[in-house]
Amino acid sequence: MLIDRKSYRTIWHDKVLEKVQIIDQTKLPFSLEIISLECLDDVLEAINSMQVRGAPLIGATAAFGIYLAYRELKDKTKIAEAAAKIKNTRPTAVNLFWAVDKMMGKINHSIDKNIMQKTLLEEAEKICESDVDACKKIGINGFELIKKIHDNKKNTVNILTHCNAGWLATIDWGTATAPIYLAKKNNIDIHVWVDETRPRNQGASLTSYELNHEQVDNTIITDNSAGLLMQRNQIDLCIVGADRVTYTGHVANKIGTFLKAVIAKEFRIPFYVAIPISTIDWNTRNYNDIAIEERSDNELRKITGLDNENRIKTLDIYPKNSKVYNPAFDITPKEFVQSLITNKGIIKPNEDDIAKLKDD
Ligand code: MRU
Repeated sequence: MLIDRKSYRTIWHDKVLEKVQIIDQTKLPFSLEIISLECLDDVLEAINSMQVRGAPLIGATAAFGIYLAYRELKDKTKIAEAAAKIKNTRPTAVNLFWAVDKMMGKINHSIDKNIMQKTLLEEAEKICESDVDACKKIGINGFELIKKIHDNKKNTVNILTHCNAGWLATIDWGTATAPIYLAKKNNIDIHVWVDETRPRNQGASLTSYELNHEQVDNTIITDNSAGLLMQRNQIDLCIVGADRVTYTGHVANKIGTFLKAVIAKEFRIPFYVAIPISTIDWNTRNYNDIAIEERSDNELRKITGLDNENRIKTLDIYPKNSKVYNPAFDITPKEFVQSLITNKGIIKPNEDDIAKLKDD
């Protein structure tokens, strides 16, 4: 997608530099900085510090992480240790584990190491391409829902989204945003309400930023505003992404998602979750078994912005001795989800329908 009319992806391998390149998302929306990942430690740092974030992008970065670890270490035990370290970075996004397992499944220690290294690079690139393809298909499937509402309403379609399930959370297109970008390209009049998404503000800093660059009309709201807007008929549908969907249909997504789903159900506003198949957790039945990441106090205690001289500043905003609690995700039980918009079609969030999506 576009930043200042130039096309970008969130991660790519530069053949000339022989480095993996990423957009450093901790610097957005204030500055666009491309940085290199050259070794396992760079990858661990990028995922831990959220220079890359969003379930599909975390998965793709983890895949490149296995390639870089092999290039650096080659040794069987050390690669297995590297895989464990990558899996240990962030616990909730299931794409991370999916991608590491997929890459590790390719490793054969008895073949030529240069050939193996090349195979791993190709596999990581394949994971990126298949994510782009999945997001495009999510876009095509979700577009029909937006179009239907537009055909009935014959006026602007107002969509609520939470956090950033945009192209910055994937490789390109995004999950929740892919139908929105397609609607825009098809001249459907749309407007997006963007939840700010405290504490890290991925909605305000990333979703609004990317929608602006694609010229999609959007308005940032506080995380507490959606109820009022729904009550006033200012939201036609909600589309969010997910970090993990159990094979029984429960959705783990950025903290605050559940509240939006509950209020949407109260007002009979359809609440959709857009995901590629790689976000389905085929091993977990009950949502209480999903690990919910708890992040640092500082994400709540501090806020980063620009001062009057356009310098990036971080400030303390809480009383120093107050306690804080910072769970990063919540669970939306399947009863609150209208449908899942997947790359293989729009389906109900239940075990039977999800089972049909499983790759052979
Ligand atoms: O903590 P993050 O930024 O990695 O969280 C990911 C998200 O932005 C969301 O929860 C998103 O809606 C799902 S990822 C497409």
